[in-house]
Amino acid sequence: MPRVDGKTKLVGIIGYPLEHTLSPVIHNAAFDFLDLNWCYLPLPVEDMFLDEALNGLRVIKNFVGVNVTMPYKEKVLSCLDEISSCAQIVGAVNTIHIKDNKLIGYNTDGRGFLTALVNDGGFDPKDKNVLIVGAGGASRSVAVTLALSKVNELKILNRTKERAEEVCSLLRSNFACGVEAFDFGDDLESLFSSVDLIINATPIGMSVGEQPFPLDLISNKHFVCDLIYKPLETTLIRVAKNNGAKTLNGLSMLLYQGAAAFEIWTHLEPPIEIMCEALKKVLKSEES
Ligand SMILES: NC(=O)c1ccc[n+]([C@@H]2O[C@H](COP(=O)([O-])OP(=O)(O)OC[C@H]3O[C@@H](n4cnc5c(N)ncnc54)[C@H](OP(=O)(O)O)[C@@H]3O)[C@@H](O)[C@H]2O)c1
Repeated sequence: MPRVDGKTKLVGIIGYPLEHTLSPVIHNAAFDFLDLNWCYLPLPVEDMFLDEALNGLRVIKNFVGVNVTMPYKEKVLSCLDEISSCAQIVGAVNTIHIKDNKLIGYNTDGRGFLTALVNDGGFDPKDKNVLIVGAGGASRSVAVTLALSKVNELKILNRTKERAEEVCSLLRSNFACGVEAFDFGDDLESLFSSVDLIINATPIGMSVGEQPFPLDLISNKHFVCDLIYKPLETTLIRVAKNNGAKTLNGLSMLLYQGAAAFEIWTHLEPPIEIMCEALKKVLKSEES
């Protein structure tokens, strides 16, 4: 249990609902380990009160920042005083730093993904061809970060092609890499054989059954990432391993996006291993 007294610094997460958030576990474990008098709180806020809640936080002296989760990552933009250039391009914020009564927005999702890919996956995306399946918020964050990392080509495959096209035009107007949109009516065999890295940025795979794309398209020349972390091993990851591909699940992205927020708020190096152990413990207990 974190100690709480008159000097405790507060951070938290705004979203709705929040019953299943894992962020308090990650951050409170880090505060505990570093013996910091900080506490991370869930702050469930209904849609009609979002502005009021953020303006309230702005004036609370010991509130240092909040994470933002579904469904507010896009909506908070209009409430902020400053927005990092990356969050502006992505069009979504997942971390707010409160400084001198100002709300400053960042997006650490993409950075979390890239750190996970490089540190835990051992994969350098520079000059590689990448396929992202899905065209929602996570897809945009990952796509922008990969474009900043100088990938060769980014291909976006989505059920609704117009949304894939939207991600492509966002990329075209900001970056020089090649981009192309696809839907499931296109030639998937040649699409999959043209890429090195495949990323599932859809929620498909959280339960058994439906898969984000035909899994027999995965071969041993692919590196496969699933952004899903519940379950830790999705069918996609299991089959990809069986097909000889290298894989990475969504756990490390979750960890590193949290670690990046921790750094923004505390200016300290996050204790990654402690945060990771705390996260794995909860996820494993939820799975059993
Ligand atoms: N590991 C992490 O730290 C982390 C961070 C962020 C997100 N995530 C995970 O990433 C996933 C996507 O999140 P998001 O925020 O991007 O969600 P989102 O904005 O709602 O986008 C979901 C995407 O999945 C597609 N999709 C949804 N259901 C589908 C179905 N039944 N068949 C085909 N396509 C379907 C949607 O296609 P349409 O455009 O056609 O609707 C859309 O492109 C979630 O599982 C989330 O938990 C993980």
